[in-house]
Amino acid sequence: MARFTSVVRYVLLSRHKYGYGIHSPFLYHLIREVFLDKTEYPEYKKIAHIRDKMKQLTDTTERVDFGAGYQKEIRTSFRHIVKTSAIRPKYGKLLFRVSSYLKPQRILELGTSLGIGTMYLAMGNRDTTVLTLEGDPLLGNRAKENFRKLSLERIRVADGKFTEVLPDILTENKPFDLVFIDGDHRGEALMQYLEQISIHLNPGACVILDDIHWNKDMEEGWKKVRNIPGVTLSLDLLQIGMLFFKPELSRQHYVIRY
Ligand SMILES: C[S@@+](CC[C@H](N)C(=O)[O-])C[C@H]1O[C@@H](n2cnc3c(N)ncnc32)[C@H](O)[C@@H]1O
Repeated sequence: MARFTSVVRYVLLSRHKYGYGIHSPFLYHLIREVFLDKTEYPEYKKIAHIRDKMKQLTDTTERVDFGAGYQKEIRTSFRHIVKTSAIRPKYGKLLFRVSSYLKPQRILELGTSLGIGTMYLAMGNRDTTVLTLEGDPLLGNRAKENFRKLSLERIRVADGKFTEVLPDILTENKPFDLVFIDGDHRGEALMQYLEQISIHLNPGACVILDDIHWNKDMEEGWKKVRNIPGVTLSLDLLQIGMLFFKPELSRQHYVIRY
């Protein structure tokens, strides 16, 4: 959920909902073919079904603070987690379409939770390999069950704190084409992850960041990561931000109405 002042600024500044006035052919097509695509793909229903099942779970788990800003460890139900932490359908569907459009060979996700976002990413392109990182093994195991239900065999969950597992994940795997960062709401941490990840990306890669306006710290982080070497196009969609590492583009930033 974005801060009130950010929402007001976004409403005043956002433009180009239909792509008019955009000079970059790449961005124009992305808006027209991906952002504006209202098709109800059958995969959406399958994921919605899993989400509904998770909402019926009453068993609880201890929430661990990895940087999301909980004041203390709290007991909570899986039902509550899927309601509050899982990506909302509007943005999950966008992940699906971005994955389908860009056809990434390798996807990296930071923050699996129950795997809702992972499923959108993986189902957008069945040929892709997805590596997803989660610090809470109870959540990671639930996510694995969900992936099995949808026969998503090309997803691997890496258990552990991002700071501990990310360096090895990056060096042991070929470069990534699509990255989704959805955990650890600290601007400084965001910058550190991006600095590490940005040198393990293929040309043309896209990094999607969730909750870029969640708090002031994240907003600062978002401003900084837009200037990381290699980023040539950054898009602010309020809930999420997108960074493109496309060498053929000259650096541009847009606030897009979505
Ligand atoms: C917002 S949820 C992810 C939601 C998920 N991407 C989805 O779309 O359904 C963030 C997850 O990241 C995990 N997380 C946050 N910071 C972490 C860190 N520093 N190391 C490991 N896991 C972390 C949390 O345990 C939580 O499950």
